[in-house]
Amino acid sequence: MALSDLALYGGPKVKTTPFSTGKKYGEAELEQLREAIEQGTLFYAHGKKTAQFEKRFAAIEGVEHCVATSSGSAALHTAVAALDLGVGDEVITSPITDMGSLIGILLQNAVPVFADVDPHTYNITADSIAERITEKTRGIMVVHLAGNPCDMDPILELARKHGLWVVEDCAQAYMASYKGRLVGTMGDIGCFSLNDWKHISAGDAGLLVTKSAELARKARLFTDKCYDREKPGRDPQRFGMNYRISELQSAVGLAQLEKLEWICDRRTQIGGAITEGIQDLPGVLPHKVTEGGRSTFWFYMLRVDEQKLGTSAETFAEALKAEGIPASYGYIKKPVYLWTFLRERRIYPNFNWPEDFPQYGKPLRYEEGLCPVAEEVLRTCVTIALSEFYSDEDVQAIVKATEKVATAFHPERGSHA
Ligand SMILES: Cc1ncc(COP(=O)(O)O)c(C=O)c1O
Repeated sequence: MALSDLALYGGPKVKTTPFSTGKKYGEAELEQLREAIEQGTLFYAHGKKTAQFEKRFAAIEGVEHCVATSSGSAALHTAVAALDLGVGDEVITSPITDMGSLIGILLQNAVPVFADVDPHTYNITADSIAERITEKTRGIMVVHLAGNPCDMDPILELARKHGLWVVEDCAQAYMASYKGRLVGTMGDIGCFSLNDWKHISAGDAGLLVTKSAELARKARLFTDKCYDREKPGRDPQRFGMNYRISELQSAVGLAQLEKLEWICDRRTQIGGAITEGIQDLPGVLPHKVTEGGRSTFWFYMLRVDEQKLGTSAETFAEALKAEGIPASYGYIKKPVYLWTFLRERRIYPNFNWPEDFPQYGKPLRYEEGLCPVAEEVLRTCVTIALSEFYSDEDVQAIVKATEKVATAFHPERGSHA
């Protein structure tokens, strides 16, 4: 394989036909929506859809309680609020995530502290979390990135030892499991997202699960302005948001839940097949599934050994794209602690967050070098978009194109013509 064989440099493409697609929403969603409309109310506490949606997801997760919310971010905010996260408290979380993980922490005027990640699973490690624990730490928010579960046993052990709660951000990880336990059921609270891009969707929505009746009660109140729908009368005992889901979202969510198993099974298969096909390639580091875990691959993120291949991850991604593969360089461009809004404290106007809180009162730095592994992962990764609708031929094209690109760049196997 010579460099000139690459489509990037004028050679023939590996993938010349479109990837298989399918409809995310269809008749089942329409039927549920019709029923919701015919109820004559779209309010979650008066119609039947939300109660059914919550009951069904609680059964899937095998837990007692589920509270549906308006988004995944809302579910995560509700979780930390129900756990009484206070001003100046610290929460240890991942530097490779979506802003949604941080919203609730910041709105509680608490402080996200970032642990470093494993170089191959891209999830935060117990060792790094342990280094970040201070007297202000209240909890850990793990993020099961891209459908891959965190290595939970040592994290749960650490939490127990230090009296910390654990919230699981499962926005990207429906049906993923760790040593036989579903994500969302191992910590105190698990949160899921149904935004338009997730395994299942209702346009926007979220789900919060817990085994604790007390946490579920506090969560429910927090999502509904602290109005108790079972006891009429308005004298909220605590502060709450309006994070209510509507019956329309729940109706679509109910239909989507019926597809959850096959969507996740197919994604596990696709991710596994890609890893199997690329694991021996020179200079390519596959997306490692956590030991004892099942990943439901929301996307596939490989890394490039730039020294071994003598090329950058960015060029590797461009070469894959030129072969007709839906690949892109990087995931989030930098760890979240380097995002401008955090670095420059653009959270509350006219307020030097968080040092001005008397309860915090110590300098806080979000700067380069805080999580060196996360920075290296994001610098050298290539993301491949996945869909449960991909055919086996599509998956093999991803493998073939990766092999072609790796082989062409590798100085010993490719010829640099
Ligand atoms: C890891 C993670 N956490 C939280 C969220 C927030 O979910 P939502 O967009 O439903 O608010 C997302 C969504 O992209 C996510 O990927």
